[in-house]
Amino acid sequence: MVPRINGQAMILIYIASVLACSAAEFSIVVPNASVSAPLGSSVVLPCGLSPSLNARTFEVRWSKQGEHDPILLYQDQKVQENVGKDQYRDRVSLIGELDKGNVSLKLDNLTVVDKGEYICFVKSISWYEKGSMNLVVKALGSTPLFLHKEAGEKVNITCMSGGWSPKPTLTWRDSAGRELPNSHTYYRTGNDSEGLVSVSSWLLFSPSDSEWISCTVGLNGQEIREGRIVPLKGFWREAFISTLVLSLIVLSTFTVLLILFRKGLLPHCSSHKNAKAAADSHVSLPAETVPLNATENATQADPHESLPVKSVPLNATKNTNQGISSLYTPPEPTEESSWKVRYKVSLTLDPSTALGSLKVSTDCKSVSYEKPSGDSKSKFPHVLSKEELSSGLFYWEVMVWDKTSSAQPNSSWCVGVTQKPHSDSVLKALCYEEGKGLYPNTQDFTNLTSKYTVTKLGLYLNCQSNALSFYNVDKTSHNLLYTFHNMPHGTYFALFSPGVKDLNRVRILD
Ligand SMILES: *[C@@H]1O[C@H](CO)[C@@H](O)[C@H](O)[C@H]1NC(C)=O
Ligand SMILES: *[C@@H]1O[C@H](CO)[C@@H](O)[C@H](O)[C@H]1NC(C)=O
Ligand SMILES: *[C@@H]1O[C@H](CO)[C@@H](O)[C@H](O)[C@H]1NC(C)=O
Ligand SMILES: *[C@@H]1O[C@H](CO)[C@@H](O)[C@H](O)[C@H]1NC(C)=O
Repeated sequence: MVPRINGQAMILIYIASVLACSAAEFSIVVPNASVSAPLGSSVVLPCGLSPSLNARTFEVRWSKQGEHDPILLYQDQKVQENVGKDQYRDRVSLIGELDKGNVSLKLDNLTVVDKGEYICFVKSISWYEKGSMNLVVKALGSTPLFLHKEAGEKVNITCMSGGWSPKPTLTWRDSAGRELPNSHTYYRTGNDSEGLVSVSSWLLFSPSDSEWISCTVGLNGQEIREGRIVPLKGFWREAFISTLVLSLIVLSTFTVLLILFRKGLLPHCSSHKNAKAAADSHVSLPAETVPLNATENATQADPHESLPVKSVPLNATKNTNQGISSLYTPPEPTEESSWKVRYKVSLTLDPSTALGSLKVSTDCKSVSYEKPSGDSKSKFPHVLSKEELSSGLFYWEVMVWDKTSSAQPNSSWCVGVTQKPHSDSVLKALCYEEGKGLYPNTQDFTNLTSKYTVTKLGLYLNCQSNALSFYNVDKTSHNLLYTFHNMPHGTYFALFSPGVKDLNRVRILD
């Protein structure tokens, strides 16, 4: 008897252990922090099994917290068609290697409503487990727009910015960088399908307290937009009515433009194919255009009057003699700034626009002066880009001294933008002449630097703020050389001139 019982027990233990092995348990590994991705992009929601069992025969169910139907259902070894809401159709897929237990979900063309908690549920014959993670959809909003009202001795300044996701933070600072306490910040979520958040905040401010104040709106202090305003006393009473009327006109004009733009009734810049940048630019369209810029444009018809304003607020007040201004601040030029990548355009030269004895290379990327015919009418015969730069943001780089082909720096060159028809008054360029140095074409008495010879220039054209900035991108410390403000509206073409003093070329860098 005793040996037989022992034998049965042994078999039971054996069966139990076999069962335990085949019914392997697993746990779900998901990120412990939120997953975030820009609006319109694709995102992978990672989810894996631990240990990494083959999940090919398992059921995988992805769903969103608060929604009944799954987003994606993998069952009977295939993704089931026609389950889940239409809003996810053709946007979701299993991207990982199922046989290695990777059941990650890819979600394309993110919209703001996609934000939220996602649940990854995996079931085998004998075990199930789930994990969840939060998805944050990020959208960078518009540059702040200001409104201002006199309020006794003080000025009531309102800062507004729209097009954000998630809810941004708004911070006021004075010119010394001190944060100004503020308790009047309001958020509003658009009830359109996009669900983007706008923020506004007002502050009472004594113009004598600080030269200017800034309003910064951003996500996590990383993706930020900043605007500055220079308030002056005494100006307000007279300016108030006209500014208000003007801002209403401009605001309503831009609302109309924005609506047309969204409906695709306005032409987009033809050379600008970066969908992300385009989306971004349409988001920031209304706010970048501040009423005062409009007056500045009107009073500054002569471009020769513009002084070098390197984003120094006080200069701006002196120049324009305006009490209020939203100043355009060119983006910081760090080594690998994402804006450079985002707004990068690949330009090509249009040989039919080449003036004088210019030779355009066959790849349409570089231009040089051909043997002097003796009668060069202009110091800077030029060639234009094929691409029109008409709305949005553009960045490109130009090599003005190709060290690999010439040991000597180019004796002269000129690089910038112009409109058609070209004339000196629409030209905004940075030029160089040996002995004279680097200068903006609008004031050839200003030598910007004599410290070094520039080899590579970065140009950043902001069609919304009507500004063009030049960066020296030779070194790792990419510094801002000059910014043209208040440029006339319109369609621009990039302009390149190798000068007439030598045969060295000027080349577009891609
Ligand atoms: C989340 O993961 C990071 C590393 O991936 C770890 O340092 C952190 O402690 C984790 N946080 C929690 C709450 O588990
Ligand atoms: C994402 O959007 C783009 C442009 O709107 C479209 O061409 C593409 O087909 C969409 N992709 C998916 C998977 O819906
Ligand atoms: C699963 O696959 C995706 C896409 O290939 C990858 O991004 C992710 O890191 C993988 N996750 C795990 C846990 O292996
Ligand atoms: C400041 O202006 C905002 C609107 O722009 C208004 O809502 C607020 O009441 C004003 N504050 C004061 C103290 O006037």
